[in-house]
Amino acid sequence: MSKTVLITGASSGIGKATAELFAQQGWHVIATVRSPDQATDLKQLKRLTVLGLDVTDSDTIQQAVAAAIAQLGQIDVLVNNAGYALVGPFEASSPAQIQQQFATNVFGLMEVTRALLPHFRQQGHGTIINVASVGGRVTFPLYSLYHSTKWAVEGFTESLQYELSPLGIRVKIIEPGPIKTDFYDRSMDVMTQPGLTAYDAVVNTAMPKMNQAGATGASAESVAQVIYQAATDNSPRLRYGANSILLLTLRKLLPDSLFFQIVRRALL
Ligand SMILES: NC(=O)c1ccc[n+]([C@@H]2O[C@H](COP(=O)([O-])OP(=O)(O)OC[C@H]3O[C@@H](n4cnc5c(N)ncnc54)[C@H](OP(=O)(O)O)[C@@H]3O)[C@@H](O)[C@H]2O)c1
Repeated sequence: MSKTVLITGASSGIGKATAELFAQQGWHVIATVRSPDQATDLKQLKRLTVLGLDVTDSDTIQQAVAAAIAQLGQIDVLVNNAGYALVGPFEASSPAQIQQQFATNVFGLMEVTRALLPHFRQQGHGTIINVASVGGRVTFPLYSLYHSTKWAVEGFTESLQYELSPLGIRVKIIEPGPIKTDFYDRSMDVMTQPGLTAYDAVVNTAMPKMNQAGATGASAESVAQVIYQAATDNSPRLRYGANSILLLTLRKLLPDSLFFQIVRRALL
């Protein structure tokens, strides 16, 4: 029998590539998006159902999860992928921007997870794959708020494994490096404040370099392959790098001071 995956943020980038890959591999795919009317490509695919789901809107989460279970009977894998970056000098942020960043990347991911847990418990299995980032393990200039959400996802997921594995539920963390998607333009929220010029030197140096890393980054399809591996390798492994192994290894091996020096040299 075909398995079923539910993916958040499937309208573009990593989420869309993941939906396409699972469908090609014969899975039933529940591709959830904020604007189902615009998901015309996805709707062409066999075994794929597009449902509306905004991770900051509890009603849409409940409705989409109920509709997915009613339609397919069983969901085997959840991919919590929806997310975006709020970047710039922290001092230029507004409380509303910070709320929205955490509502999407952290609280939304938690709420979708909680909505699926009763189903996973009842069926005695399930895999929750959280798309964090290499930015959940290391940090770069001007990404303080984004990093704080992805570090939260790392801690949340790592701890969950202890209570969920006895119930047959696996958790996985995906840690992509720079990936060429809408992340660096359409989806990005850039913090600026008129008259706040003290950070101009850092902004003017680091931002173009970070954006360049995105423009020359790996493909969304390569991350989809890693997510597929995490869904199917039948292992208790928690973390999966994607275009990030070198950086993660350096972070593990080097003392803080040396690692920070490398980041400064590369980006400032
Ligand atoms: N690109 C990178 O370099 C990179 C690196 C590491 C980790 N990541 C992570 O990978 C994930 C996917 O990003 P991406 O690179 O594929 O960028 P993307 O192409 O911009 O995709 C982001 C997706 O998240 C969706 N989304 C945003 N807010 C949402 C909400 N409130 N409810 C539901 N969906 C929402 C977007 O939907 P709309 O189309 O409606 O905006 C879009 O489908 C994110 O969690 C990101 O943090 C990306």
